[in-house]
Amino acid sequence: MDSFLIRGGNSLRGKVEISGSKNSALPILAACLMAEEKTTLRGVPRLSDINSMIGLIKELGCDVYRHEPSGDSGMTGGPPLNGPLDITVKSEKNCEARYDIVKTMRASICVLGPLLAKRGRAIVSIPGGCAIGDRPVDLHVRGLEKLGAMFRNENGNIVGEVRGRLKGCRMYLGGAQGPTVLGTINVMCAAALAEGDTVLVGAACEPEVVDCADMLNKMGAKIRGQGTPEIRIEGVEKLRGVEHRIIPDRIECGTFIIASAITNSPLELKHCNLDHLIAVTDLLEEMGVRMTRENGTIFVNPTGRPRPIEMTTQPYPGFPTDLQAQLMALLCVADGISVITERIFPDRFLHVGELNRMGARVRKEGPTAIIQGTMELAGAPVMASDLRASAAMVLAGLIARGTTRIDRVYHIDRGYEKIEEKLRALGADITRIKESRAVA
Ligand code: EPU
Repeated sequence: MDSFLIRGGNSLRGKVEISGSKNSALPILAACLMAEEKTTLRGVPRLSDINSMIGLIKELGCDVYRHEPSGDSGMTGGPPLNGPLDITVKSEKNCEARYDIVKTMRASICVLGPLLAKRGRAIVSIPGGCAIGDRPVDLHVRGLEKLGAMFRNENGNIVGEVRGRLKGCRMYLGGAQGPTVLGTINVMCAAALAEGDTVLVGAACEPEVVDCADMLNKMGAKIRGQGTPEIRIEGVEKLRGVEHRIIPDRIECGTFIIASAITNSPLELKHCNLDHLIAVTDLLEEMGVRMTRENGTIFVNPTGRPRPIEMTTQPYPGFPTDLQAQLMALLCVADGISVITERIFPDRFLHVGELNRMGARVRKEGPTAIIQGTMELAGAPVMASDLRASAAMVLAGLIARGTTRIDRVYHIDRGYEKIEEKLRALGADITRIKESRAVA
């Protein structure tokens, strides 16, 4: 388990290349199980969660080949661009996603819909809860049942079967906390190969759903309404192999916007889609961060100590839960009292205790956190508890007085591609301590 050592206080300056979206690439890799020929994906980030998904689809019979990097990113000191990934299904015999893989990556559930639609059978270990909450998968199962799949629980696995072909229908896919992102994608993938028409009412509108629908459409699917709460799918018999570029990672982009704001440093972010971040950029502008865009580049210009705000996480296009922890790190040094309410994962607050160890003043009341801004934070040894909470620790460490040591950074490696290289290239004093040295 590696650690990060950050000496706070450096200003940042320069350009950073935003990677392809992890949360788009994961279900898209699973959707490749449905293609008849080779699929080529560009912009797939190198992350441990992506490696786990590649490992899983290989076990499910795919050949996966990563091409060499296709040149450098043009960013001084930044990591090179990734080469494309070729995925070809060679065998359809194995239909099982084992617990060993599922327990390291909940997104393994994304293979359920594609396997049932294409192979008529799926055994997927039931993902347990994680640091951000219980995270049930009942809506995935309910949606696939409506399409005609039959399920039973066996030894901690969901065992699903289809007699003949799945059948399209009209269904409501929302739950108590609103729409489900991966649930929508799972059912949409399955419906793409079902017989007849499917209408998903209460579908998630996230850009990752749209990216997957766009790729499926290139493959020959007939999907309309992606990006709205009502997705209409006309089932087809086959999906072909295609080339597809993964959308930019809006959460990584938002994290670098906050890095710019917290260090009060102007930054240039390349390969972004600001349309995917409208709730985030509007809020940060209210806090005093100026942003301009030019094609796929965002120029971020903070204007001093941020103003406090109130924010509630919401499904897209609202403020994303995946940026709640990072925003909290910024509000810890804002000029006044801020309030954050978490509506998607009401328990997603493990970072509160760690930020308070660094001198922050955050009080939690149910799904709400009240943040009293302070003039400065102090470096401390802290723990990365989940992916986005770890990013919040890194952001806090960038401005904390003295040294911050963040343990268990494998969490951050799940979702941020080479974050320490990217930050170092911008001028941050951040070092990775490898496991053997970290323990010593
Ligand atoms: N929910 C149910 N039943 C279900 C599915 C979801 O009750 O069957 C509830 C959840 O407990 C939650 C809400 O619905 O309260 C929304 O969860 P959703 O299903 O949308 O989450 P997800 O699809 O499992 C994806 C991202 C998460 C991100 C959420 C919300 C991936 C791989 N994961 O998860 O990303 O927080 O959508 O936007 O795409 C991360 O990247 O750090 C991360 C956790």
